[in-house]
Amino acid sequence: MKVLVVGGGGREHALGWRLSRDPEPPRLWFAPGNAGTAGLGTNLPIGSEDLRGVADWARRERPDVVVVGPEAPLCAGLADELLTLGIRVFGPVAAAARLEGSKAFCKEILEAAGVPTARARRCSDPAEARAAVRELGAPVVIKADGLAAGKGVTVCRTLDEADRAIDDALVRGVFGDAGRLVLIEECLVGEEASVLALTDGERIAVLASAQDHKRVADGDQGPNTGGMGAYSPAPVVSDADLSTLRAAIFEPVLRELRRRGITYRGVLYAGLMITATGPRVLEFNCRFGDPETQAMLPRWQGSFSRTLLACADGRLNPEAISWAPGACVCVVMAAPGYPGEYPKGAEISGIEDAERRVGVVVFHAGTAIRDGRLVTAGGRVLGVTALGRDIREAVTRAYEAVGCIRFEGAHFRRDIAARALARGRG
Ligand code: AMP
Ligand code: GLY
Repeated sequence: MKVLVVGGGGREHALGWRLSRDPEPPRLWFAPGNAGTAGLGTNLPIGSEDLRGVADWARRERPDVVVVGPEAPLCAGLADELLTLGIRVFGPVAAAARLEGSKAFCKEILEAAGVPTARARRCSDPAEARAAVRELGAPVVIKADGLAAGKGVTVCRTLDEADRAIDDALVRGVFGDAGRLVLIEECLVGEEASVLALTDGERIAVLASAQDHKRVADGDQGPNTGGMGAYSPAPVVSDADLSTLRAAIFEPVLRELRRRGITYRGVLYAGLMITATGPRVLEFNCRFGDPETQAMLPRWQGSFSRTLLACADGRLNPEAISWAPGACVCVVMAAPGYPGEYPKGAEISGIEDAERRVGVVVFHAGTAIRDGRLVTAGGRVLGVTALGRDIREAVTRAYEAVGCIRFEGAHFRRDIAARALARGRG
């Protein structure tokens, strides 16, 4: 089997790594991949947002399936393009990826499907937006409608902050077209969790839960990042919750999309707030999470490639999916300055030592090979990941592995999975 993985971060290394451990491992290509994926297959000089480049390669090489990691190419129509070439793709068509690409569309579907979510108003006029904020009261959340590289959401404690966020989006246009429309949303209180489901449009397989850590510093302080670590499963979501979420969220949303003539195939990621009155959907992503994937896939059992292919083909068998017992924890090591400006090109050492430890795998994110040396090439550099019998053992192993790895100015959170550990004690 030939598989092309689109993307070049930690998530794509984890996808490729898991594919390479299948009973019948496929041959792998990455567009563009990173230094970690280079050890699993062939890195192509094609960027993940180069739709033409990916489609041209696929037309020539006829992979059995293209697995798309990031949201941008999906929202831009990569799956549609590949399907017209008769190439199977794991990832939704643009009309379905709009669940992530437009927060207003997402809210419309959630409301039409009767799925629990925060109350919201859509506004493109600043005066109207300021009035909506006053109607909902502070705290309140202002969201740019379109893709804004994770920066489009502002949780505002006061009406002043909300007015500034409205100004940024609707008057100053800091998010460009992505922020010409905003959602003014009720602020929900609770603990966040990620629940992802594979779907072929009809059948649904809800995956193991996970929790990521979006703020840069311990105790959820400092600016938002792409994610500084993750663990799976997330005890805040019980097994009972997982089965009710299928009927409460995934089934009605997919049904509502089908009613509009849209078939969603791929993975649907629900970002949830577990409130005192139950889980509510904060957002949908049309792809695997990063770094949740790094903490989920090491526990995947059975053939990953066959499952992705079955999903793409419309013949998913949810029964075929199972998870190794225990837990998995991923600690992200980041470049100095991330999520702001950061240097590149620092030499990385110690990964082999880390990977000699029991249960440890190190996923590359922003790495490259320069003159034969492994160097940093992005903000999130590595996802140091460990399996364990439980969260406690996995956390200990992950941090011991982090201790083996060096690059100049490396920083990481020291409290990954602390919430799960505190719950265990409570
Ligand atoms: P999103 O991009 O929609 O996931 O939002 C980014 C982050 O903003 C989420 O992970 C939450 O921490 C926060 N957030 C989004 N919507 C809400 C809400 N309605 N209430 C409270 N926090 C929210
Ligand atoms: N870890 C958050 C995301 O993938 O969007």
